[in-house]
Amino acid sequence: APGSTPAGCPVSGAAAPAPELFTWEFATDPYPAYAWLREHEPVHRTRLPSGVEAWLVTRYGDARQALADQRLSKNPAHHDEPAHAKGKTGIPGERKAELMTHLLNIDPPDHTRLRRLVSKAFTPRRVAEFAPRVQELTDRLIDGFAARGSADLIHEFAFPLPIYAICDLLGVPREDQDDFRDWAGMMIRHGGGPRGGVARSVKKMRGYLAELIHRKRAEPGEDLISGLIRASDHGEHLTGNEAAAMAFILLFAGFETTVNLIGNGVYALLRNPGQRARLQESLAAGEQGLLETGVEELLRYDGPVELATWRFATEPLTLGGQRIATGDPVLVVLAAADRDPERFDRPDTLDLARRDNQHLGYGHGVHYCLGAPLARLEGQTALATLLTRLPDLRLDADPAELRWRGGLIMRGLRQLPVAFTPA
Ligand code: HEM
Repeated sequence: APGSTPAGCPVSGAAAPAPELFTWEFATDPYPAYAWLREHEPVHRTRLPSGVEAWLVTRYGDARQALADQRLSKNPAHHDEPAHAKGKTGIPGERKAELMTHLLNIDPPDHTRLRRLVSKAFTPRRVAEFAPRVQELTDRLIDGFAARGSADLIHEFAFPLPIYAICDLLGVPREDQDDFRDWAGMMIRHGGGPRGGVARSVKKMRGYLAELIHRKRAEPGEDLISGLIRASDHGEHLTGNEAAAMAFILLFAGFETTVNLIGNGVYALLRNPGQRARLQESLAAGEQGLLETGVEELLRYDGPVELATWRFATEPLTLGGQRIATGDPVLVVLAAADRDPERFDRPDTLDLARRDNQHLGYGHGVHYCLGAPLARLEGQTALATLLTRLPDLRLDADPAELRWRGGLIMRGLRQLPVAFTPA
């Protein structure tokens, strides 16, 4: 009969069915599905599009605990996967390439040693000194389309800014940076390039980095790679492979993330005109405060890293009431945790002035984002400059038509068409 299930319990009391994950609708707006999981199955076993079975952790408390849990290893060797799936799971470290022994694939004590080395070279001071260069890059990119009155903010702005910034920081000479931009573009398959192209780009980048490190050993400069080599001379050793893997992870951890911070951030502002107007007023008054809390809020509200990178159980453990077996992959859903109503007041509302905003957008624990100060600098500079130079910036597309990139870890738009009064 209407209003009751076969078992006789009223429909009003029955839960909605489990949402389908990894569909096109899910890529466009995963938040309703995450709300369901948080509520009904906070630690949820799922089959990923690659065929791998993994646990999704969606509540803030469980997520924070999992990110800091030493029993969850970052080393893909701990993955208990069937032999027939070897190398086909999309889990990066399984390619076993030299560039893959980096911070996000290793555990303490190796991680501790490498992180200490890179922290000596990648200091907050180095990032602060970099601010004028980030401003100059931002202005130059906006100059490229300001007179036109329209742009695709992903391709023309969000995509090139971080790659040039990281190249500068690492010490890649300016004349080689466009090659880097092209390889990186291929590697995140920005234009949907062929798989062979990706492999070729990784190979070219690996060759280039090895050669660059070799050159910096002979003729050190003021850049980060020279800093890494110098740091390793003081008692602790960094092998050539480790240096190349470090340069590679700095590029990759700092690239698509920042593209998406700018892309998702501008998009969220354009869709929340009241908040955007407040930010513009505060920038016009010469204030920094709302910009700073605002970028943190944009990371919480629709951050670049939807799922933290892979973790694998090294022993049986219980998380959010679920038993997790040795070898099981665990994916912490940062995007779900950061909208948990148990932790955040009105979690689905964008509030640029939000205080008490300990979001997990940069992770937590020993793998907490090394590049957070640089990401903040780039995000704040990009948003403030765009809104100041192009004050009537508006979305030039139907939001329902926008396409999101369907990768597992990252969340970001493929294009962001905008229009504005030519400046
Ligand atoms: C780690 C987010 C930008 C370098 C992480 C993690 C997250 C994250 C969530 C931890 C992943 C995990 O535990 O599985 C972000 C976001 C960014 C950003 C949202 C931009 C808005 C950058 C930049 C750099 C960078 C600009 C460097 C140039 C790194 C590195 C790690 C890391 C090296 C690994 C740290 C470790 O394992 O010790 N990031 N990141 N990130 N990030 Fe970022």
